[in-house]
Amino acid sequence: EALEQQYTDLESFQVIAHRGASGNAPESTLPALELAHRSGADYLELDIQLSADGHLVAFHDRELQRTSNGEGRINDFDLETLQQLDTGSWFNAAYPDKANEGFVGLPILSLEEVFKRFGHDARYYLETKAPDQNPGLEAALVDMLERFEMIADGRVIVQSFSRESLLALRDLRADLPLVQLLWLPADDMPLDLEALGDITDYALGVGVNFRADEEIVLTENFIETAQTHGLKVHVYTVNEQEDMQTLIDWRADGLFTDYPERLLELTE
Ligand code: G3P
Ligand code: CA
Repeated sequence: EALEQQYTDLESFQVIAHRGASGNAPESTLPALELAHRSGADYLELDIQLSADGHLVAFHDRELQRTSNGEGRINDFDLETLQQLDTGSWFNAAYPDKANEGFVGLPILSLEEVFKRFGHDARYYLETKAPDQNPGLEAALVDMLERFEMIADGRVIVQSFSRESLLALRDLRADLPLVQLLWLPADDMPLDLEALGDITDYALGVGVNFRADEEIVLTENFIETAQTHGLKVHVYTVNEQEDMQTLIDWRADGLFTDYPERLLELTE
């Protein structure tokens, strides 16, 4: 790969594997990441939180119960305890048609393990989750990204719903590519030009939802307006090919999906 191609290239359309290929394997586990990586997704998306002893872990919910056999806040447990939990069996119970014995007993992953496994062979789209519940997350994340030379090598984007979290990240590393996540409500479609202009000061793009309560809330005009402000628009979480095609036609810059192979079928 030529050197310049190693850098995050956001000019082309981005296939972002949401919590890995989480439609076909338990979210944020090694099998989900392996599937996404093998499919040729551009980015592995993961939500990052802190264990009680300060390790970065890949886990979406604030609480353990939906996607593991544990209970309580993820931040109340140290890494060793978290890694003894089973974050695969829930998937087999929820999706019997996709169940796999290999998913039983899958551990919660640390970000370090993810980087050790995929290294510079993958790109990562990492979310600082629940910053209120994860104080110190930004500094720990930047340390880890520097340790694995992910920023210099253009391998990472960091996203957050929290503007404060993104500003903290920017203060730590001015050259870290950032994306502001937004949630568009169904009944009040904001097209706040000033807010979009402000986001341009610190982020290269926005991540926005396509639907809310099943209803489409994003518009082609929103995408165009954001792009006019110089922002990339990455849309979450789009799993049906009909929706994918709509957003491709609307010139979205990339999609988060639990089924990267479905999206790649349309874009390759
Ligand atoms: O990061 C984009 C999308 O993943 C945001 O929603 O709840 O799936 O993290 P969530
Ligand atoms: Ca996320």
